[in-house]
Amino acid sequence: MVGISKKQVRIGMVGYKFMGKAHSHAYRDVAFYFDNNVEPVMQAICGRNEAGVKEAAAKMGWQSYETDWRKLIEREDIDLIDIVTTNNSHAEIAIAAAEAGKHVYCEKPLSMTLEQSARMLEAVEKNGVIHMINHNYRFAPAVQFAKRLIQSGRLGKIYHIRATYLQDWIMDPSFPLVWRLNKEVSGSGAHGDLAAHIVDLARFLVGEFKEVNGMMETFIKERPIVEQSSGLSGTASSEQMGEVNVDDASIFMARFENGAIGTFEATRFAGGNRNGNRFEINGEKGSIRWDVEHMNNLQVYFHDDEPGLQGYRTISCTEEMHPYASAYWPAAHIIGYEHTFINLAVELLNGIDKGYSPSPNFMDGVKNQAVLEAVEQSASSRQWVSISQVQQSSEYSM
Ligand SMILES: NC(=O)c1ccc[n+]([C@@H]2O[C@H](COP(=O)([O-])OP(=O)(O)OC[C@H]3O[C@@H](n4cnc5c(N)ncnc54)[C@H](O)[C@@H]3O)[C@@H](O)[C@H]2O)c1
Repeated sequence: MVGISKKQVRIGMVGYKFMGKAHSHAYRDVAFYFDNNVEPVMQAICGRNEAGVKEAAAKMGWQSYETDWRKLIEREDIDLIDIVTTNNSHAEIAIAAAEAGKHVYCEKPLSMTLEQSARMLEAVEKNGVIHMINHNYRFAPAVQFAKRLIQSGRLGKIYHIRATYLQDWIMDPSFPLVWRLNKEVSGSGAHGDLAAHIVDLARFLVGEFKEVNGMMETFIKERPIVEQSSGLSGTASSEQMGEVNVDDASIFMARFENGAIGTFEATRFAGGNRNGNRFEINGEKGSIRWDVEHMNNLQVYFHDDEPGLQGYRTISCTEEMHPYASAYWPAAHIIGYEHTFINLAVELLNGIDKGYSPSPNFMDGVKNQAVLEAVEQSASSRQWVSISQVQQSSEYSM
């Protein structure tokens, strides 16, 4: 950039489809909107199919490409490894990257199991590298503003959270067996994919989980074998069928350490809901609610409003005083899904500059996975399961 010299963080990204596009876009735009000390350099992208990765590099603006992530990690001109691959590869890539002294940014869920996630945390801590996990919904200005309201005591003691993440993209029984429906690649279904996000929002806004009681269901047990897929779409290869071995829906109740209670529902069978990530939180002095499909708005209710005028009001979190808003446009000139990734990228780059791992980091990923695993145990035992019990059984103290 003319006349301005910034520190550079040279990035190597593994994977280049749905999340690859979202992360690439964030790196392209972050220095445009935010005046921080560090700028990302889109050094190299990695994928196993040479023609595909070459095309993706050209389209998304990466300077070079590799076809083996091990080669990417060996490169001396890379500072940060960004993992946007399927869940079965997160642990191996992240641990190798940390051992090579690279900072690591990983998609959620951190991995497929608590044990793998704990090993990832151990590796980044042992090697002293910066780490983050992508729970991008935290970085919607309205969610950050919700956090401010709660932290400043405007809602008082928190009683309830009710969070849902409702999708409907696999309701058609002829939709193929994409990797998200294969336990060996994904670890779990709607649970790790969607519940992981609302668990993160609950930990961010309410606090640590104490115990959970859940159930999980698979409605369609067999699907056509997949030919190719990307993100939430896919095509079938033939009439041949394969087993769906993950949950289609996961529902659970929770108690928190601070006395709050919550209900959580994650499903891919909620017809009419394309990406219904929503929560409502009720406290002694007020309530808030948020819906990603109207992500600029936070609905707020205060008990001390004048009688007769009480009710939820809608705050457009686009004013200068709202988190991240001043980097973008004038009030009510709204931002979108992709900006949550840009806001997270700012935190990641600042963390690398100043030498700390911003939250959500791998510790958050491990704590999240402990909640997910506790729900899975509860669903199979039909009992309440305490988070500390699950953490202890993973032989990793947090
Ligand atoms: N934060 C979010 O809101 C969000 C949204 C969607 C997906 N995700 C997460 O992002 C990750 C990727 O999901 P997606 O939707 O982008 O999937 P996708 O199917 O669109 O892309 C996954 C890519 O990973 C590649 N890949 C898998 N193993 C690899 C390996 N060993 N080496 C190189 N490339 C490899 C695949 O070839 C594919 O290109 C998952 O962990 C998913 O849970 C997060």
